[in-house]
Amino acid sequence: PPQRRHASKQRFITEFSQCLFDFVVQLLPTSEEMAVKEDVRKLLERLIRTIEPDSRLLSFGSTANGFNLRNSDMDLCCLIDSEERLAATDLVTMLGDLLERETKFHVKPLPHARIPIVKLSLDPSPGLPFGIACDIGFENRLALENTRLLMCYAMIDPPRVRTMVLFLKVWSKRRKINSPYKGTLSSYGYVLLVIYFLVHVKNPPVLPNLQQMPPLRSISYDDTHLMGTIFELLRQRWTSSNSETVAELLIDFFKFYSRDFSYNTGVASIRAGLLKKESKGWQSEFEKGSPRERNRLCIEDPFEMDYNVARCVTKDGLYTIRGEFMRASRILAARPERAVLALAQLCD
Ligand code: CTP
Ligand code: MG
Repeated sequence: PPQRRHASKQRFITEFSQCLFDFVVQLLPTSEEMAVKEDVRKLLERLIRTIEPDSRLLSFGSTANGFNLRNSDMDLCCLIDSEERLAATDLVTMLGDLLERETKFHVKPLPHARIPIVKLSLDPSPGLPFGIACDIGFENRLALENTRLLMCYAMIDPPRVRTMVLFLKVWSKRRKINSPYKGTLSSYGYVLLVIYFLVHVKNPPVLPNLQQMPPLRSISYDDTHLMGTIFELLRQRWTSSNSETVAELLIDFFKFYSRDFSYNTGVASIRAGLLKKESKGWQSEFEKGSPRERNRLCIEDPFEMDYNVARCVTKDGLYTIRGEFMRASRILAARPERAVLALAQLCD
């Protein structure tokens, strides 16, 4: 009978939401891990200042945006506040030498990469059972800016937004669809898909469009001191009238990206909503049969508008990703007797 089915669906949703919260909580970094990472950042900053006295070393990516899992990599960006600074290539080489001499890190300078970076890692030890992996880049102000934007989105509704994002990050890693080098999507790409869904697909929306809120539009997310103010403003100006649970949102997320998103012609833009590939000139490369099939999946970067965050996704990669969205949808539609089983099956 329909009432019974409805009750069983409600029960599944309530249980599955609880499972998601419990699952995600145990994946969060410990305060110890965060403290060690902050110590590492300070140590590296001190060393870099012996080469460039007017520099700052800032965290970006998951360590700074509120979407970090236990043992995730550390992304660091060095900003130099002086007119006469060394070229990134030289800095990378010099810093590489210095770190090799002065620290226990394994050091790999990549001065000639498209974006010159120094890669560092530390072997596991009793206090740091998974070691540390860290990339240091230079002057990547847009990455700092998009990190702050993501962090604001994370702060608006942590129970729903962070839970969804963290779950999807784990899920995409376990299902092996989180490797831009192998034709699938970066974590950053998945986070943008979630935000796009919560801002532009859900009706009523779960999140506001932060880039369209008048008093906030002109604030640079590059300034840490403004974050408190921004957040206070947000709290006063935004309450979502969408009261769906995290389980309902996730089920809908998988459904939407399995069959409703217009992969062939659409561009997901968290800044402007659904755009057309045509209007951005992003349709051509696979129509011309280019071997470097870019633009199968199109996600506009929030600040670098001519940058497709999903440009690494190949035809096969997209096929696999959509297959995974469908698989997840199927598992959740079947509503196994116990919600934990659904979770286990999803990440199997
Ligand atoms: N980034 C970017 N453009 C990309 C990929 C990444 O600008 N195509 C920047 C973003 O600032 C992003 C950061 O690099 O926040 C880190 O990206 P990524 O490693 O994909 O995300 P994390 O949140 O760090 O995920 P993980 O924990 O899997 O490392
Ligand atoms: Mg990262």
